[in-house]
Amino acid sequence: MSEDRSIDLCGVRLRGPVLNGSGTFDAIAARRAFGDALVERFPFDAFVSKTITLEPRQGNPPPRLWETPAGLINSIGLPNKGLDGFLESDLPQLAELPVPLIVSVMGFSRDELARLVAAAGARGEVAMLELNVSCPNVETGLVMGADPAETAAAVERVRPESEKPLIVKLTPNAADPAAVARAAEGAGADAVSLVNTLKGMALHPQTGEPWLGGRTGGVSGPAVRAIALEQVASVSASVEIPVIGMGGISTGRQAADFVAAGAAAIAIGTESFRDPAAGRRIAAELAALALPGTHPAPASTVV
Ligand SMILES: Cc1cc2nc3c(=O)[nH]c(=O)nc-3n(C[C@H](O)[C@H](O)[C@H](O)COP(=O)(O)O)c2cc1C
Repeated sequence: MSEDRSIDLCGVRLRGPVLNGSGTFDAIAARRAFGDALVERFPFDAFVSKTITLEPRQGNPPPRLWETPAGLINSIGLPNKGLDGFLESDLPQLAELPVPLIVSVMGFSRDELARLVAAAGARGEVAMLELNVSCPNVETGLVMGADPAETAAAVERVRPESEKPLIVKLTPNAADPAAVARAAEGAGADAVSLVNTLKGMALHPQTGEPWLGGRTGGVSGPAVRAIALEQVASVSASVEIPVIGMGGISTGRQAADFVAAGAAAIAIGTESFRDPAAGRRIAAELAALALPGTHPAPASTVV
């Protein structure tokens, strides 16, 4: 008999603590590639959609990715079908996944954000909402999430639009992420998730011009893990609401570090590009470490 690893996240029961980072696992494409095996052995305990916006977006011009020695710089620019396209064509497919669905939304104004929260939150298939106020590729995302007062104003505006739990995804590109987290909590957020990507850049080796079509991008993967861990620890010490920790996690032991730092749940992003089943593997490794009464040894002692 398998052990019960379930957790309560903002009143929603999850079979375990491992989520995907928004935009890093395309469940619809994966279902096409792996068929029903994906549903039967779904790698995550809840599924977070790619961020959607009110209107459809093409995203940034290519190239959109640059591989760093320990991670990625992406400049995807939130391509998506827009709210109506998402509700019509993606939501019914995502609702077939065997885990609760979290819809990530981003608006270019508070009113836009409010419309997205109201429309997505009204759908029975949606368990929770995540506000992406932290995408470094889109100017307003940076502004909203980089400042406590801006974040509080956005959360206050959207809070009355839905009773569904509201997760605020924090940007690491803020002077004081803990202050932003406290502002989100004070304005009614039910949880915070962090980190989104860190702002970064790569130059074309021949021309010296920015490599990425969007000029700058977001750094993710093992390169950001130490920064993410520190921010998760400082945010966890600053708020009462649950913290979902992510940033460069690629093993169960690293996930355990985020839990030790205060995360109630963790998310896997870049590692899923290398190994689409990473979520399941990391969940199993984490479960094996989390034996009752033991505290996992620090990751640094493991070679
Ligand atoms: C290719 C790519 C696309 C992403 N798209 C989104 C997105 O749409 N919305 C969002 O909130 N975060 C997005 N992220 C950020 C991830 O969800 C995650 O916060 C970040 O990558 C840190 O985790 P990781 O180091 O495990 O990847 C994206 C990251 C990558 C690499």
